[in-house]
Amino acid sequence: MRVAIFTDETGWHTRQLQAALRARGAEGRCVDLEDCRIDTTAAWHGLVIPGFGDALPDAAIVRGIAGGSFEQVTKRLGVLHALRELGVAVYNDARAIERSVDKAMTSLLLHAAGIPTPPTWAMESAAQAQRLVTRESAAGRALVLKPLFGSQGKGLQRVGRVDGAHVPLPDLKDYGGLAYLQRFVPAVPGIATPGFDWRVLVIGGRAVTAMRRIGTTWIHNVKQGARVEPAVLDAALADLAERAAAALQMDYAGIDLLPTPEGPQVLEVNGVAAWQGLQKVTRFPIARALVDDLLDRKLAAAAGARRA
Ligand SMILES: Nc1ncnc2c1ncn2[C@@H]1O[C@H](COP(=O)(O)OP(=O)(O)O)[C@@H](O)[C@H]1O
Ligand SMILES: [Mg+2]
Repeated sequence: MRVAIFTDETGWHTRQLQAALRARGAEGRCVDLEDCRIDTTAAWHGLVIPGFGDALPDAAIVRGIAGGSFEQVTKRLGVLHALRELGVAVYNDARAIERSVDKAMTSLLLHAAGIPTPPTWAMESAAQAQRLVTRESAAGRALVLKPLFGSQGKGLQRVGRVDGAHVPLPDLKDYGGLAYLQRFVPAVPGIATPGFDWRVLVIGGRAVTAMRRIGTTWIHNVKQGARVEPAVLDAALADLAERAAAALQMDYAGIDLLPTPEGPQVLEVNGVAAWQGLQKVTRFPIARALVDDLLDRKLAAAAGARRA
């Protein structure tokens, strides 16, 4: 059993996965999607996955996809789509990664599934977006402007009514000409600001472990200086996270949720979620659970799809 670990960076996560695969008698080989090619003269399937010769991997884990041009990222995702079409179990499926990387699609799918998530807008017209910001601001509300493909809390800004002052929408050129705007959820009264959010890990449809991220600002990402602590995975939190993962058809996902007086709301679904921070505060063996789910559930599902 040879498993491709697609990553642009080897390190703690890939070592964890390789050890978990080894424990199951499988071999994990790191491959950068950048180095994968389409070559219709090379093999019957037309793919070149370095390290696998003419053969295809038995399964693949997507651990990281480097940023690139629209063309480069299209090819990298194309390789993942092709592998799936060829019957290889790809964990997460490229379609699921696309749904979760696109924050607007995530919001749309969460909303359609009836999952509590803050009101969200995505539009290309700066004039329309500015009108929305003015209207929300007049109602005393702030909106969060986010890069559509953002991660690690980078590039987030509050606009509208922020700390008593009006903040207009900035030039959208740094946002690829797209205004993705989400109503700002203030910290719950009684909880010390800047507050916290939850990260819940869902594997194979089940919420398995959670942490709280306590921010130094309203942006609670670890990369923005948040500290993490263990969190109790209560039934409401687990249920919401599992429904969010199901709405985007994720094999596994890291779900971000914010507390509100009406209960938690889902902010984001991460389809290529890191778990080093989470593993520091939980005894749950994350890499082992990911590998077990891939080998015991996903592989059988891919084999079923091949037979059909
Ligand atoms: N609508 C919002 N209201 C309040 N805080 C938010 C909102 N959106 C994002 N945040 C804060 O910013 C962080 C990063 O936002 P998120 O949507 O998860 O993007 P990223 O992909 O950068 O992690 C969240 O974890 C949360 O702390
Ligand atoms: Mg996030």
